[in-house]
Amino acid sequence: MNRDDFPILKKDIAYFDSSCVSLKPQEVIEAMNSYYTEFTACAGRSSHAWGEKTTSEMEKSRKILADFFNVKQKNTIFTRNTTEGINIVAASAKGTVLTTDKEHNSNLVPWLRLKQREKISWMILETNETGIQMDTFESLLEKERISLVSVHATSNLDGMSLPVKEMAKAAHKHGAKILVDGAQAAGHREVDLKSWDVDYFACSGHKMLGPSGMGLLYVKDPEALEPLMLGGETVKETWLDRYELEDSPHRFEAGLQDYGGIIGFAAAAKYLEKIGLSKVEKHCQAINEQITELASAHGLDILGNQEAKLRGSITSVIPKRMKIHELNLLLSKSAVYTRSGAFCVHSWFNKHNLPGAVRFSAHLYNDESDVEKAKEALRKLKGIL
Ligand SMILES: Cc1ncc(COP(=O)(O)O)c(C=O)c1O
Repeated sequence: MNRDDFPILKKDIAYFDSSCVSLKPQEVIEAMNSYYTEFTACAGRSSHAWGEKTTSEMEKSRKILADFFNVKQKNTIFTRNTTEGINIVAASAKGTVLTTDKEHNSNLVPWLRLKQREKISWMILETNETGIQMDTFESLLEKERISLVSVHATSNLDGMSLPVKEMAKAAHKHGAKILVDGAQAAGHREVDLKSWDVDYFACSGHKMLGPSGMGLLYVKDPEALEPLMLGGETVKETWLDRYELEDSPHRFEAGLQDYGGIIGFAAAAKYLEKIGLSKVEKHCQAINEQITELASAHGLDILGNQEAKLRGSITSVIPKRMKIHELNLLLSKSAVYTRSGAFCVHSWFNKHNLPGAVRFSAHLYNDESDVEKAKEALRKLKGIL
């Protein structure tokens, strides 16, 4: 699907590492470059034509992204990545935070540190092959006075998704807020934050066809959240003994921003919208089903639910005989790019006493030719996997 829009794919690689970083279509590259070749300047400061253009492109991009997630501009904050978004929320966290046992380190380590410093209490909700037990979640909310639930929408480990809309409803019923790590959901399926009704949502542009090092944080009630960093652009006025904070979102965006990245990020959202998120979702699922069939045919153990449809665009496998890094290397020698290791979810692998896995993660540019390459690469390894 639309493979020709991705100039890097002229290299004839079967790229299955999109959960880490997705490839960028020409439209995104051009949008980003326009900032460097046509109007390089600071936003919100310089009144010359390039300055005004940068300011207007930045705010236009914010509007495109706010619309993409069905929220308002004042609630849409530019960050570098999902990790930064989660850390901004964590910096103001109090009370008891509940996460699952299958969170990316970005949604684990900030809470562990706060717990070690005795700033919060921290609880874990167990996941299983179908996701979570909603009644266990509700009873934790009821008994433990949880103040914040912080969970992934889709796991980067096994592609399983959580029912975040229902979880938000339950959290609110019990007076808790909810932060959703949307790193693997954004750009893979429709994300309507108004309907999800979450309090915070963090995602990364580089996982949704946008430039690397761009992210977004949605905050429902920005007045109730402390900015993590302060400096230029975050204040309306300063005196030697005080400062007056800017309104949201600018109070959260300290210093000069990655304007080229912001413009490219919006171009990625426009590109995805033009194709249609439900088409993207179905396409990735179809590719993932074929990868699952291949993996099963070669006797590889698949993490998470065995039903490919439930794993969106991710199939993580463990070979029976070969080491995971060896399999990853041999695949890459056949021009099939996957990722091996713990995918920053070390805690889950440690809990299950597993060595890590090899992950195939697809996006809209993957097609039959990639599946064929994977098939051929695995065929060569038959008998030693
Ligand atoms: C589920 C999940 N959360 C958080 C992150 C962190 O994203 P970033 O490195 O872009 O901040 C990732 C990255 O792989 C992820 O998959």
